[in-house]
Amino acid sequence: SSRVTLGPLVAAIDQGTSSTRFLVFNAKTAELLSHHQVEINQSFPKEGWVEEDPKEILQSVYECMERTCEKLTQLNIDISNIKAIGVTNQRETTLVWDKETGEPLYNAIVWLDLRTQSTVERLINKTPGRNKNHLKHKTGLPISTYFSAVKLRWLMDNVDEVAEAVLTHRAMFGTVDSWLIWVGRTHLFRWDKPNRLFILNVYLHLFLFLTRSFRYFDIPMEILPKVRSSSEIYGLMKSGSLSGIPISGCLGDQSAALVGQMCFQEGQAKNTYGTGCFLLRNTGAKPVMSDHGLITTVAYKLGRDKPACYALEGSVAIAGAVVRWLKDNLGIIQTSTELEKLAASVGTSYGCYFVPAFSGLYAPYWEPSARGIICGLTQFTNKSHLAFAALEAVCFQTREILDAMNQDSGIPLTQLQVDGGMTSNRLLMQLQADILCIPVVKPSMPETTALGAAMAAGAAEGVSVWSLCPEDLSEVTSEKFEPQINPEESEFRYARWKKAVQRAMNWET
Ligand code: G3P
Repeated sequence: SSRVTLGPLVAAIDQGTSSTRFLVFNAKTAELLSHHQVEINQSFPKEGWVEEDPKEILQSVYECMERTCEKLTQLNIDISNIKAIGVTNQRETTLVWDKETGEPLYNAIVWLDLRTQSTVERLINKTPGRNKNHLKHKTGLPISTYFSAVKLRWLMDNVDEVAEAVLTHRAMFGTVDSWLIWVGRTHLFRWDKPNRLFILNVYLHLFLFLTRSFRYFDIPMEILPKVRSSSEIYGLMKSGSLSGIPISGCLGDQSAALVGQMCFQEGQAKNTYGTGCFLLRNTGAKPVMSDHGLITTVAYKLGRDKPACYALEGSVAIAGAVVRWLKDNLGIIQTSTELEKLAASVGTSYGCYFVPAFSGLYAPYWEPSARGIICGLTQFTNKSHLAFAALEAVCFQTREILDAMNQDSGIPLTQLQVDGGMTSNRLLMQLQADILCIPVVKPSMPETTALGAAMAAGAAEGVSVWSLCPEDLSEVTSEKFEPQINPEESEFRYARWKKAVQRAMNWET
């Protein structure tokens, strides 16, 4: 049968915490044509430790790419129409590898990992006034287990192979994007300019923490990646069905979602529900420092000669991860999609509150010693109430971030743009609108993270098949969830949640 003619296509590798995906979009309409997804195994070698295998990550990318190409071929879509590939990834996850052999020197330490808690406490104790925000005016970040610099320090102090490789100038450090795009002998991409060894996606999370504050961490600058913009040709695919196609977009997953949701104007914001949950608000050309527990980050820099655009970010460690926990650790659901049905069967938590502080609490508290609690249990409470409380927890955490964001900017958001895997849960979306007391708007194509990376790749100089503000987006539709409960009811529940959070923060004392 005859080939479908579509014009240029752009693809994205979306390497998230829980899974890897490869997705292909029509560059004219932003329509998602095909994709493939592979789950990523996580290992928990000790309490609080979270690791992933760098080679499994790489392999999953290859597999997703090849399977998606097969699916496109079955749809009679010619894969030679794919003009560019973007990369988007889980962000602070930290890897070190040997540049001679291309072999990882340790597992990837996942952003959620808590092993650096004592290092963080030691660093904070060294600051005047034991202030976790001591470096914030330089970095936009509190000193926390979340960020890569402390993870890298831990690797240098605790893994002999890493220490040795640093001493002998063989060590390379990067986040998942750098690992994937690295010009290794065996990796995905071929580099055009051999003097540039690998890249670092521009986000302040990592970059300023390492460069401006490296004396705190005593990390040699030579092992850091080069910083490049979010949209330019970094290299060409080396092998596989897409061999020769340029890799020309690279954005951390939360920045990519901001781009995919077209939040290019100052004041625009989006909330993405993945493993964690991240609300970013575009603050335009200058970084804004938060007084309410948010972090400051580079949102994107869409071209070598384009200015950087900044964002305020509220990071929540546990969102989708709580669903995985209910499934894998408690076994109260068999699949993630069962959660909505279970929670909807009761429609209330019956006074039960669940603070899933599995990795401490991130924004706005930044308390690594917080631990998860479930409170308000009675004889009557059952697993459906717990399921409901888990969904509410995601919504309450977002409410805390939104409140902080509104206080920092002085201009309250009047509706919230959302995306990410959990947004297919309609009960969650309704609860979110109820708890925020503002409408929640969800695009019908939820893969905005991948879309953002694909847009950055397609818009790069030398590719130019995608305008960043496509005119023909008439087919992009969205769904709006309006608040349905009265604000007093919402405030009452939120006040209870706050009490539960205080207990999670101080549970040991
Ligand atoms: O900062 C971590 C973040 O990038 C992870 O995103 O979608 O895997 O929860 P996600």
